Amino acid sequence: MKILTDNSMESDMEDLTGRVPRHVAIIMDGNGRWAKKRGLPRAAGHRQGTENLRKIIRAAVEFDVKILTIYAFSTENWNRPRREVQLLMRILEMVIDRELAELNQEGVQIRHIGELDGIDSRVAKKVVQACETTAHNTRLILNVAFNYGGRDEIVHAVQNMMREGIAPEDVSEESISQHLYTGDLPDPDLVIRTSGEFRLSNFLIWQSAYAEHYYTDVLWPDFDRICFKAALDEFATRTRRFGKTDEQLETESE
Ligand code: FPP
Repeated sequence: MKILTDNSMESDMEDLTGRVPRHVAIIMDGNGRWAKKRGLPRAAGHRQGTENLRKIIRAAVEFDVKILTIYAFSTENWNRPRREVQLLMRILEMVIDRELAELNQEGVQIRHIGELDGIDSRVAKKVVQACETTAHNTRLILNVAFNYGGRDEIVHAVQNMMREGIAPEDVSEESISQHLYTGDLPDPDLVIRTSGEFRLSNFLIWQSAYAEHYYTDVLWPDFDRICFKAALDEFATRTRRFGKTDEQLETESE
């Protein structure tokens, strides 16, 4: 997989107005429906979704997004049929086996967010190895949310804070943020969900408090580079007030 941009893409880069979201989080939804529409098994949708993920990682680098967080398997996805759960585990393993060397070469730092406990031990080991191998990379941080749930993350953060003996008066929004899986990273600026569903589904529920949201009917396997660019362009038009008034923002920018 090549992540480097090619020159033919430069022309439509120009209208990204400098307001590129630093951190983009994506709920990659619609693989099953993509397959069903074609009379194919759900597995075919997940395979196509995986192919698309390769392209979107490349596009994220091209568009100078610094952090990409993808929702690959939620704590609720354990409720899916056993075969589908096994397939998603296999896909994670396959993605690491096939893509790690090239992702590493292209400067992508892979991180896992979620619980490793519960994931097949062979796959979990590969996840840890992939994170270690790429830890020095700085071009793009790719957070793979696998066996991830936002509420679960907050529970773990609180448990860890209590274990560390943090006093109640030292519990703050900042200290909670620091104890999440994304503790050292800025919050997502933009959350994208494909396939026409309008919900967060327990994804980055703390971190996305002030994120811009972008929902599209396009199913994940069809959400290509152009669709991604459209989401970034839409983001560039949004005014982020963070609770302030327009007048305050104008004064600040003078
Ligand atoms: C949601 O679509 C998608 C998932 C639960 C899995 C997302 C996985 C990939 C895109 C493949 C890449 C995976 C890894 C592990 C890197 P859905 O199956 O819920 O679709 P539906 O709502 O149309 O049924």
